[in-house]
Amino acid sequence: MSQARPQPRPQVLAIDAYVPGKPAPAGARKTYKLSSNESPLGPSPKAVAAFRDAAASLALYPDGGAYALKAALAERHGLDPDWLMVGNGSDELIGLIASAFLAPGDEGLYNQYGFLSYPIAIRAAGATPVIAPERDLLADVDAMLARVTEKTRVVFLANPNNPTGALLPQSEVTRLHARLPATTLLVLDAAYAEYVAEPGYEAGAELVAKHENVVMARTFSKAYGLAGLRLGWIYARPYVIDAVNRIRGPFNVNLPAQAAGAAALADPDHLAAAVALNARWLPWLAREIAALGLEVPPSHGNFLLIRFADAATAKRADAALTAAGFALRSMGGYGLPDCLRLSVGDEEANVAVVAALRQFLSA
Ligand SMILES: Cc1ncc(COP(=O)(O)O)c(C=O)c1O
Repeated sequence: MSQARPQPRPQVLAIDAYVPGKPAPAGARKTYKLSSNESPLGPSPKAVAAFRDAAASLALYPDGGAYALKAALAERHGLDPDWLMVGNGSDELIGLIASAFLAPGDEGLYNQYGFLSYPIAIRAAGATPVIAPERDLLADVDAMLARVTEKTRVVFLANPNNPTGALLPQSEVTRLHARLPATTLLVLDAAYAEYVAEPGYEAGAELVAKHENVVMARTFSKAYGLAGLRLGWIYARPYVIDAVNRIRGPFNVNLPAQAAGAAALADPDHLAAAVALNARWLPWLAREIAALGLEVPPSHGNFLLIRFADAATAKRADAALTAAGFALRSMGGYGLPDCLRLSVGDEEANVAVVAALRQFLSA
């Protein structure tokens, strides 16, 4: 093939594109999408109403500064609006942070089973991903620190982590931060923060308040049930916000998303109901699946990792579940080919998926 055409940067071609959760299987009588950690409760009716109302304004550009949404976030969380930035999903913000702080030759550090957006963002910035091994599916702070060099400009840590569900104790997060160079940015990705019930957990705002080199990333995609709108936010020192703001698209968050996000923040009861539903069904699923003889590591998110005897069994389970109408997430891309990830669904989905798993194991 002729090379006489524009060539993408080699770093771009080194990226493994993100593989999203598969849709609910076609053909089966009733289908359940349990592959993307979405909220089974869906969004607040107030957010849906705001989304519908926004239809009357679609000829207008959104507010490029997202002032109303940032004001709502600031009020809800007790934060300074000048330390906030919103994005087209927290994915966009992860990419923008990498682009703003990583140059070719720099290193971006993350964990063995860290969220797969991180290597994409690091490579897209032309930098080198460095992976710290985990211990028992948990980030190992010593292993992370051992890989920090003078080239390490950004460290990404999801807490709780996706896909393992693991929660790094707050003391370990603090220890990691305390030993990082002042010139290294620690990005605490708290996409699942709303679900965490662990005493002492702190999503990141306190560290941001105290230190210049910390970012907290949050999303409306999980507990707020607004994944389809693509809305995330970061909280960081104004110099970080300023840098990221320089390279974002001028209208990176669309008008219905801004309206729905602000309305969702005004409905704490709905958020509480989503969290309560998860608090009821996550342990139920963990217990039932463990009782089937499968290993289920403790999860602090809205999903569970299920470990099968080996990769071939996980693959057969995935196929059997798909045929029965259930989409789960295969974990080969994360180096966990013997696992599947199951998102917590509504009661019907949870009961049905356990029955389908039982049937697969007894076949
Ligand atoms: C740890 C983690 N961070 C970020 C995201 C991205 O969320 P968003 O939908 O806001 O882009 C996800 C989504 O799965 C996630 O699991």
